[in-house]
Amino acid sequence: MSLERALKELESAIAGLHAALAESGEGKFHVSDALRGRCLTSIADLSLADLGLILNTATALKELLKRTPSVMPPLLRGKTLAMVFEKPSLRTRVSFETGMTQLGGHAINLQPAEIQLGKRESIGDAATTLGRICDGIMARTFAHETVLQLAAHAGVPVINGLSDREHPCQALADFMTIREKLGEPRGLAITWVGDGNNVCHSNLLLAAKFGAHFTVACPEGYEPDAEILETAQTIARESGSRIAVTHDPRAAVKDADVIFTDVWASMGQEAEQAERARAFEGFQVNQALVELAKPESIVLHCLPAHRGEEITDEVIDGPHSVVFDEAENRLHAQKAVLVLLM
Ligand code: CP
Ligand code: NVA
Repeated sequence: MSLERALKELESAIAGLHAALAESGEGKFHVSDALRGRCLTSIADLSLADLGLILNTATALKELLKRTPSVMPPLLRGKTLAMVFEKPSLRTRVSFETGMTQLGGHAINLQPAEIQLGKRESIGDAATTLGRICDGIMARTFAHETVLQLAAHAGVPVINGLSDREHPCQALADFMTIREKLGEPRGLAITWVGDGNNVCHSNLLLAAKFGAHFTVACPEGYEPDAEILETAQTIARESGSRIAVTHDPRAAVKDADVIFTDVWASMGQEAEQAERARAFEGFQVNQALVELAKPESIVLHCLPAHRGEEITDEVIDGPHSVVFDEAENRLHAQKAVLVLLM
């Protein structure tokens, strides 16, 4: 082949590459730098503008994926996310890993036996090492303090993929789902039926930020953490949201726009399962309870669900349930968090 012809072929290959990149949306999909390098450990750390940016980016990424499923913008090309798990996971692991793949990056699944966080070496040393090699860390932990320690040492964005205190990624997907189904959350009546747990905490804080009203109906002794409630109340005074805690699920659900529930015993509380099942009697989200809410109300559950305990088959498979849209939205919300932070 003559040099001239080889150069022509090279030129045409480069032109083709540019066309493919343009078609893939790279360069067209603008990602804000406002959150670059930040960690996501709690919903409380995000401003209303940050939250709007995350949810709008999630919606844009979802639309792009639906429109052109085969060509995704490689916004995280060459980047690696370390996924540190102290507990089991389906949705969190799969949505983060699929998200990284779709964005042209890579995710490493680190199971508890593998890195033995805090046992084989200190949390700080593990975080520093991961931060030297990877571009971000997603961590699912028992103690919330572990996420904070990772964030203090990593030097790269650390994302809370569930701790005993919060599940911010879940709440982002939940409010993305609420927005899709009912519009802007301001003024909506949201009722949480069940344990005042990690998922409740993140949604409570997010509702307060967005000016949605949030009522927790739980048995005595299973209220949300007092400090989180106080933070939510402070945010609510600014946003116009009303926060309440009651022990009467029927009164709490009356005329609600959104009903949330979650398992009665979270991961790590398995030994309390029987005691909790007794305490939560009367707090099941069943058809009779859902009928007290608005006719167009929606029911959310972060999953995994214990069907027949906190929620019945009739409700989870019924017309009010949006639980699998909610599960799918984990992917889109996670991708937004990844492209904005990493
Ligand atoms: N909702 C949620 O976080 O699911 P996994 O525990 O399966 O990740
Ligand atoms: N509250 C539950 C949520 C699971 C996604 C738990 O912590 O186990």
